[in-house]
Amino acid sequence: MIEWIAAYWQQLQAEPGRHPVMSQVVPGQVREALAAAGVAGAVPEQGRPFAEVFEATAGAIMPGITHWQAPGFFAFFPANASPPAVLGELMSAGLGVNGMLWATSPACTELEQQVLDQLGELCGLPEKFLFGEGGAGGVGEAGGASAKGGAVIQGTASEAAVVAMVAARKRASERTPGARPVVYCSSQAHSSIVKAAMICGIASGPEDHAAVRQIEVDASRAMRTDLLERAMAEDAAAGRVPCMVTATLGTTSSLAFDDLPAVAAAAGRHGAWVHVDSAMAGAATVCPEYRWMLRGLELADSYCFNPHKWLLVNFDCDCLYVADRAAITSALSITPEYLKNAASAAGAVVDYRDWQVPLGRRFRALKLHFVLQTYGAEGLRAYIREHVRLGGVFADLVRADTRFELVDHSRRMNLVCFRPSPRPGETPAQTDVRAKGLLDAVNRGGAAYLTHTVIPFVTPGDASVRTVLRMSIGSTFTQERHVREAWAEIGRRLGDI
Ligand SMILES: Cc1ncc(COP(=O)(O)O)c(C=O)c1O
Repeated sequence: MIEWIAAYWQQLQAEPGRHPVMSQVVPGQVREALAAAGVAGAVPEQGRPFAEVFEATAGAIMPGITHWQAPGFFAFFPANASPPAVLGELMSAGLGVNGMLWATSPACTELEQQVLDQLGELCGLPEKFLFGEGGAGGVGEAGGASAKGGAVIQGTASEAAVVAMVAARKRASERTPGARPVVYCSSQAHSSIVKAAMICGIASGPEDHAAVRQIEVDASRAMRTDLLERAMAEDAAAGRVPCMVTATLGTTSSLAFDDLPAVAAAAGRHGAWVHVDSAMAGAATVCPEYRWMLRGLELADSYCFNPHKWLLVNFDCDCLYVADRAAITSALSITPEYLKNAASAAGAVVDYRDWQVPLGRRFRALKLHFVLQTYGAEGLRAYIREHVRLGGVFADLVRADTRFELVDHSRRMNLVCFRPSPRPGETPAQTDVRAKGLLDAVNRGGAAYLTHTVIPFVTPGDASVRTVLRMSIGSTFTQERHVREAWAEIGRRLGDI
């Protein structure tokens, strides 16, 4: 399998035409191929050699793979992988441990605590989010008072949001029993915040704007803190309880950054939990020059980012840092007889089952540990800086071509939003249609894969939303030539629409 993966990664880099970046199959095609390869239907009564099964399966599924590890993958946000991460994943699978309790595999818990502290220090996170020296212990079954901050690996930023919100809801209900909780984020926040509110029973559905107040943004697409303040005051006056405010550092659509000090100060005045979502951009804080985004983080209750997006750790790996781990564990802990053990009862250990939705958990710390140790701080910084440089290269190409418009790239990071320039007499809606047509043409071509979004303030002063294309750079194998080739392809395809 390792040989096969190595050959696949080699092909992605050396044989660009071999694997169209976005899968070109139609619905049902993979299932038909599985049937044709003899690996469908009822489970076989008799097993057969793995090599045979593997050959048949790989042949059937490969056309249905969108190649997230291809150097021409510029869609969504990256989900990058690397050799040490994959080997960590394999080791985790081979060990096959379930680290639900410290006692069920002490190394699983203790390596996770160590690696999260190391990563937090590397990123310059406030000390209150780290276990620190002597902070390895848990909170005990009684929720001991001495424990403070710490961190946990979640699968995704969405799960981190749920965990933070459950704790926030508990805190709000203790402060104002019986009052209806309200959560706040900007109109540009990721949908996972609304979904977390739906899961927590705070919102009745995605359109429950009374339960999740999606605050309008300013021209930089950052949350308007005057409107946040007003919304919280209105809710408090009406007997509702401001429960949690999520600040986004690097929004999905356009990499906008909320003004964290101002958001946290407003939330603090209303006693709301402050959660900070930096799912992709947070990885950049391994470089000191990007720590500006963490200003105000010392005022937050929880913070998460995903090394599985942009720090060489394969999916899944979200790191959730919390200032008060007892707030999380007291909201999520339940101890049936069959999970009781001496170490937990003594409060001497962290039991990560109390920090997450599921009981069981994989040994994900291994892949993060292997990546940090193998690349080292300098290797990780070089990786981030190269992608940011490539973002600059692409932005310059867009800027120099009158057929395209660059949508403000003042943050100069790895996401570049752009669109075809409006033609004379073209309505904004017609330009939007052309932008999507261009995207489809590029993606069908197979050499590159980009995605679109809609955002406000595409043209200065205009708050109506417009379609833009996103060039999101962050795949492990992406080099300057891939960025330039993608740009050439985009230019060629513009002529076709
Ligand atoms: C800002 C932000 N938050 C949250 C998420 C959700 O990520 P996950 O898949 O880890 O839940 C994303 C995904 O792109 C994101 O960009």
